[in-house]
Amino acid sequence: MAANPISDADGDLDRYLAEQENKALLRFLTCGSVDDGKSTLIGRLLYDTKLIFEDQLAALQSDSAKYGTAGADLDFALLVDGLEAEREQGITIDVAYRFFATPKRKFIVADTPGHEEYTRNMATGASTADLAVVLVDSRQGVLKQTRRHSFIASLLGIRRIVLAVNKIDLVDFSRETFETIVQEYMEFAATLGFKSITPIPISARHGDNVTFRSGRMPWFDGPTLLGHLETVPVDSDELAKPFRFPVQLVNRPNLDFRGYAGQIASGRIAVGDKVTAAKSGQQTTVARIVTYDGDLLQAAAGQAVTLVLKDEIELARGNLLVDPAARPHVADQLQAHLVWFDHEDLIPGRSYILRTETESVGATVTALKYSVDVNSFSHEAAKTLSMNEVGVCNLSTQHPIAFDSYAENRTTGNFVLIDRFSNATVGAGMIDFPLRRAQNVHWQALEIDKAARAAQKHQSPVVLWFTGLSGSGKSTVANLVEKILHAKGKHTFLLDGDNVRHGLNRDLGFTDADRVENIRRVAEVAKLMNEAGLIVLVSFISPFRSERQMAREMLPEGEFIEVFVDTPIEECARRDPKGLYKRAKAGQIQNFTGISSPYEPPEQPEIHLHTVGRDPLDLAQFIERYLDAR
Ligand code: ADX
Repeated sequence: MAANPISDADGDLDRYLAEQENKALLRFLTCGSVDDGKSTLIGRLLYDTKLIFEDQLAALQSDSAKYGTAGADLDFALLVDGLEAEREQGITIDVAYRFFATPKRKFIVADTPGHEEYTRNMATGASTADLAVVLVDSRQGVLKQTRRHSFIASLLGIRRIVLAVNKIDLVDFSRETFETIVQEYMEFAATLGFKSITPIPISARHGDNVTFRSGRMPWFDGPTLLGHLETVPVDSDELAKPFRFPVQLVNRPNLDFRGYAGQIASGRIAVGDKVTAAKSGQQTTVARIVTYDGDLLQAAAGQAVTLVLKDEIELARGNLLVDPAARPHVADQLQAHLVWFDHEDLIPGRSYILRTETESVGATVTALKYSVDVNSFSHEAAKTLSMNEVGVCNLSTQHPIAFDSYAENRTTGNFVLIDRFSNATVGAGMIDFPLRRAQNVHWQALEIDKAARAAQKHQSPVVLWFTGLSGSGKSTVANLVEKILHAKGKHTFLLDGDNVRHGLNRDLGFTDADRVENIRRVAEVAKLMNEAGLIVLVSFISPFRSERQMAREMLPEGEFIEVFVDTPIEECARRDPKGLYKRAKAGQIQNFTGISSPYEPPEQPEIHLHTVGRDPLDLAQFIERYLDAR
C-alpha cells in the first residue's frame, strides 16, 4: 500500500496539525543561579503540560501509524520547527530546546545547563527568545547572578521578564519577602529597557502558581506562570522589518537554474519585488520563489525558500539580499557589545573568527572601550574581558561585512567570536553601529608595484619568521642567514625583537596582550617590507600560535616561512646569554617565557631546527639551501 500523506487521510489530524501550526509560538528561557530551581521549573512545566499534550500526541501517533510512516516525521517537524536554522548558524549549542504546548500556545524553552559556562549557554539560548524567566530563591533574594543574567537578557534584546520568586514555600509564603525582592529587582532593572516585568511567587517543586493557582497565597492576585506565558504578547515583529535574506547556499543544479537558498530573516518578499545585493549594491527583481512544495507568490520571515532572480548579479554565499529602500550597513569597522565567555581572557589585537548568520571572517578587537560592572552598570576602563564579563569594543574585520544594528535586527545584527585554534565560541556580539572612519581612507593604486620592486632586486620577496624561546639561538642563526644572503647580493632586513622593542614597540611589555600587539605590529612591518620586495628576517619569541597564524595570513601564500628554533628550555637556561633565566627563576622578572608565561611551539613549521650540538653556521646554510630550492 502506498503511504498516503496523512493530511489527506484524516480530517481530524489535519485540523489538529493546522491548529498547532497557527498557534502563536513563545520562545523563552530561564535564568538563575545554581540552586534557584531552573530545572525543577522546566520539569514542572513539561510535566504539567505534557498531560494535555501527550493525549493528543498519542492520538496523533496512532493515526499516523494507521496511515503510513510519514506521520512521525511530520509530527516531529511540527514540534521543532524553526530550530534547524539555529543549528545551521553553526553556533556550538549546548542548549537543549524543549518544546511543549497548551491549547493556547506553543512554547520553546531554552534549557541552558552548566553552571560555570552558563553565560555562554544563555547568550546562545537567548538570542531568539521573547521572554526570560528570572528565577530568584526567596531565601537568597536578588544576587549578582540575577543582575548579570538580567543585564545580558536586556543586551540580547529580550523585552519581557517574569520575575519568578521561587521556593516561596520555604519562607512560609511570606508576602513581605516577596515584595522586598520585587522592589529590589524593580529598582535595579528600571534602566534595562524591559517592556514588562511580571513578578510571580512560585514553588516549582510543589507547583504553586506554576500551572495551577496556589491556595496558599491568597494575598497574590497576579497570574500563574503558565497563564502569563500563554497570554503575554509575543512582540517579535520580524514581519514588519525590512526584507533581509542571508544567502546560505547558491543552488545551481544545471546551467538553466540558479537559485539562492536561505531563510528569510525579516520582512516579506513577493515575485516581482526589487531586491539588492547588500555588498555590491546591484539591483534586480525576484523572478521566482521556489520551495520544496512548489513555487510561491510571496514569502515572509521564518520561511526557508530559494529565490530565483531576473538578472545575474554578484551574489555569493554570505551575502545578504535586501530591500533596496532599506539597505544594511556594509563596513569593516564596527562597534559592538561583547559578552565574553571563554576561560581565557579576550586579547585586543588577537585575530578571532567573527561569524555572522552567513559569514566567517577574521576579526580583531581594535579597542576595548570599557567593561560594564553588572552591579552598578557603571563603565570601567578595561584592558581585557574575562569570563562572563561584558564590554563595548571596536572591531575590525578582514573584509567588509553586511549587517544591521542589533537594536534593529537581532538576526543580522549578531555575531559570535570563535577561537582560531580551539574552535570554541568565545564571545557573543551585538552590533551597535558601523564606524565610518575607514571610509575616507582609500587604497592608493601604486604605479610601482611589488613585482616591479622585486624584479629590480632580482629576488623573490619572502618573510623568514624565526620563533623560539629566549636564548634559543634565533638571532644568532638569523644574523648568519642575513650575512650569507647579503654576500650573495640579496636585499634583506632583519627585524629583531630586542631592537624593535627599543623603538616602534618601546611602549610594550610582556603581558599576553602586549605580546600580541608586539607581534601584530611587527607582522605589519614585515608585510610592508615584503611589499618593498625585500627578504625579511623576523626574530621574535612570538610565543602564541594565533599571532603567528595571523602573520602568515597577512602574506601571500608561500611567502611566510616559519622557522622553529627548537632548543629545550634547560639548554636555553644553561646558555643564558643575557642572564635573564637566572633572574626569572629568582622571581625578579615577571611573565618570562617558558617559566611564567607560555610558549606554544609551532605544529607544522616550514623549517624545524634542533640547535643542540649543532653549529649555527650549518643551520644557517640549511636555511639558505631551503630558499634556493624554492
Ligand atoms: S615576544 O614574546 O613579544 O615575541 P620579543 O621577541 O619581542 O618577545 O622579546 C623577547 C626579548 O625580550 C627576549 O629575548 C629577552 O631578551 C627580553 N625579555 C625581557 N623580559 C622578558 C620576558 N618577561 N619574557 C621574554 N623575554 C623577555
